[in-house]
Amino acid sequence: MHSEPEPSTGALAQRSEAAPLSQQHLTLTGGVGLFDHSARDPFPASAGLIAGVGALLLSAVVGFVLFSMNPAMVSGKAGGTANQLGAVAAGGATALAPGSPAFEGAQIIATKPCTGCHTIPGVPGATGQVGPNLAGVAGRPKIAGGAVNNSGPDDLKKWISDPAGTKPGTAMPKVPLTDDELNKVVAFLETLK
Ligand code: HEC
Repeated sequence: MHSEPEPSTGALAQRSEAAPLSQQHLTLTGGVGLFDHSARDPFPASAGLIAGVGALLLSAVVGFVLFSMNPAMVSGKAGGTANQLGAVAAGGATALAPGSPAFEGAQIIATKPCTGCHTIPGVPGATGQVGPNLAGVAGRPKIAGGAVNNSGPDDLKKWISDPAGTKPGTAMPKVPLTDDELNKVVAFLETLK
């Protein structure tokens, strides 16, 4: 029983008799355990380059086709359904019927000092930075830094006709407007939801 060599000892003896690494037909690159498979690679080394350039060209062509298929890109106008367009325009000016009070209100504002202090969507030249941007002003429950209620046209009218009387110490001056002008200005501001 004791005359038989143990199996594990036998295996060890076999391995130590094997040829040294340098004589084995192995190409070792970059450390023990890494084996260079490139000789067995079914693809030539240039395959990656060709595939990469091909994929790049394909994505450029697909991009161009999609771009030119989109009417919004070609016409320069936003595409989409009325609802989508409405969402984009939210806070900005909606199309106003010519001759309506709101339409005239925008024209009146364009001739007043409001434009020097406020950025107002739909009013050409209204790019002022002194006061708040009036985009979406009709949708704000409070204005003038939260000091003034804004629950409808009457509140806006009161504010514009007498800022300092509504919020003492405010930096917004009273701009002289006739009652008719004021009503139209407010009608326009109410469209900035
Ligand atoms: C000299 C600059 C100036 C001019 C001119 C001016 N405003 Fe203002 N406006 C302000 C300032 C500053 C505020 C902020 C006031 C505050 O918070 O006390 C303001 C606030 C407002 C608000 C409230 C906005 C918010 O969200 O709080 C409205 C509406 C408004 N202005 C409309 C007008 C209109 C319409 C005109 C022209 C008839 C006008 N303003 C002219 C400076 C100006």
